[in-house]
Amino acid sequence: MKRLGLVVLWLTFGTSALRLSDSVLDLHLTDEQLLQLSLHPNQAAIDDCVAQDLDLAQRGFNMQLNMPQNLNFLNATTLWGMIGAFIKDADSLVTVCQARQMFYDTLRTEYDSCMDPSYLINSGGAPVNTAMLYVHMMRHLEFMCGGGFGVYTDDMDCFLKNDNDPSLDPCFQTFNQTIHQDYNQLCPAVNTYMNCMNDGYVKLCGNVAGWTMCEYERVGYAWNCPGLRCYLTQN
Ligand SMILES: *[C@@H]1O[C@H](CO)[C@@H](O)[C@H](O)[C@H]1NC(C)=O
Ligand SMILES: *[C@@H]1O[C@H](CO)[C@@H](O)[C@H](O)[C@H]1NC(C)=O
Repeated sequence: MKRLGLVVLWLTFGTSALRLSDSVLDLHLTDEQLLQLSLHPNQAAIDDCVAQDLDLAQRGFNMQLNMPQNLNFLNATTLWGMIGAFIKDADSLVTVCQARQMFYDTLRTEYDSCMDPSYLINSGGAPVNTAMLYVHMMRHLEFMCGGGFGVYTDDMDCFLKNDNDPSLDPCFQTFNQTIHQDYNQLCPAVNTYMNCMNDGYVKLCGNVAGWTMCEYERVGYAWNCPGLRCYLTQN
């Protein structure tokens, strides 16, 4: 998958592996702007995140994927790169999804409050962009392992092949430009970005693939921009 999320954090770990990206790190926004991005619009009534539980959940996740046990949200860039390198086909995605399910089951009612960048920043001491990346990473996995699993794996070969297609570059550039010009335009910019990814992937991989990549991006921002929707291109 390509420039997904707020900024293409294109982590490239080997050409055969899936490149998972997230735009948070490349945007070069100030910490203050990133923090605003992370504010949860409607905080649900849920349990507070307990650091030991998050740690336990992360260790289980890492163990399942044969990754160093002590990597945690502070190592989001490394984690995301390793996960991207791990996902090479449907079977390896299933393994990642099983690890994600265990991670979720360990946290359960704490999950949403642990996946809140402001918690990771304030209680966990994470730099803003690291916290943002970690949360986007987990939200992207939620989609790939949940409702998006079937559609994602159906077109996986095409996604892996076109990961870095230059036809998708303008999507991100427009997004980046809009955000820098007027930061308050985040949600309209995400909307444009999602639609641009849809159109790009419709051409590269077909209608369902377009919707899948739109949705993959949408979930990363849903907590900032709850009203966004992706539509399947009909023709
Ligand atoms: C993980 O992050 C911590 C805190 O920034 C750092 O000290 C440690 O070296 C990192 N581990 C790896 C394997 O990158
Ligand atoms: C995004 O835009 C800013 C401001 O124009 C620029 O400094 C930055 O390099 C751009 N990021 C990317 C990845 O193009």
